[in-house]
Amino acid sequence: MRILGIESSCDETAAAVVEDGVKILSSEVASQVEIHHRYGGVVPELASRHHVEAICPMVEAALAACGMEAGDLDAVAVTQGPGLVGALLVGFGFARACAFGLNIPCVGVHHLLGHIHSVFLEPEKTPPVYPFVALVVSGGHTGLYHVPDALTLELLGQTRDDAAGEAYDKIAKIMGLGYPGGPVIDAMAAEGEGGRVFFPRAFLDKDGLDFSFSGLKSAVARFLSEDGGKTSRADIAAAFQDAVVDVLVSKAFLAVEKMGCRDLAIVGGVAANRGLKKKAAQEADMRGIRLHMPSPFLCGDNAAMIAAAGYHYLQAGKVLGLDADVFSRATDPGRVAVRHR
Ligand code: KG4
Ligand code: ZN
Repeated sequence: MRILGIESSCDETAAAVVEDGVKILSSEVASQVEIHHRYGGVVPELASRHHVEAICPMVEAALAACGMEAGDLDAVAVTQGPGLVGALLVGFGFARACAFGLNIPCVGVHHLLGHIHSVFLEPEKTPPVYPFVALVVSGGHTGLYHVPDALTLELLGQTRDDAAGEAYDKIAKIMGLGYPGGPVIDAMAAEGEGGRVFFPRAFLDKDGLDFSFSGLKSAVARFLSEDGGKTSRADIAAAFQDAVVDVLVSKAFLAVEKMGCRDLAIVGGVAANRGLKKKAAQEADMRGIRLHMPSPFLCGDNAAMIAAAGYHYLQAGKVLGLDADVFSRATDPGRVAVRHR
């Protein structure tokens, strides 16, 4: 079963061909970071326009990279939501027209479920066993989910304000480092000493699984303006990263413990963070939990993860009807079960 995946929910236009939900035949990503860099964040209207320009070349590139023609495809899987509506519509419209023209089924994939399926795409890594806990941590989302099967997400807790990636991006903007902030701050943090400054960790209620990052963001902003350049930026970056990682790791393992699971997946753009990887691996080792984190090329938005999740939609017969539409929020009623637990 060869599925063409299409992703356009934010600022990456991506196309991929994946076999049987696990084998990447090709994966192409056109990033718009250069376009949004000077604005310090994604400009929705610019994103939509660039998706329109990039979608055809990306699909053609994905087919060419695995020596396939459109006629060799068995189905199309596309991100239906959540995301920027104008951006989503470009991929969604393209995917549906493409599937209609080829007379093959089209499935609409929940973006977060796509991220979770990124841990099934690397043959050298043992995939998680259901049920497992997933921490989805990106620019738009920070949430903990119980994943009982391939198509169900049960929400355990989520951020009450900023997503972790958003906090990275906002701090980077204040420091004049441009967008996206995660990779730059991650690299700066590696050069610094985290213990020189202490930023507050918002654990909210001790037993809860919700997150909050806006207080941390304000604390760093205040520190930057009051410090007047006395503390090195690398030390500030390291202290900020330590605070983010501390909260993410402790809540994720608390969720694993509460659910009685043996497997934890950490996915999304922020899963590429080296500090997070290191601390999560140490904690997993100590607790005897199997940790699953994708390689960096599968952490950020890509279409291979969409095709991987799409395979399961197809198996379950969840094919898009003619009246289907995109949706913008994670908990909007989509075709996958995202429910509160
Ligand atoms: O998953 P993704 O590509 O898009 C969303 O669905 O949001 O995640 C992008 C986010 C951005 O906020 C970016 O700053 C962050 O992931 N990010 C990182 C790192 N690489 C990307 N954050 C921390 N450390 C990184 N190495
Ligand atoms: Zn994403």
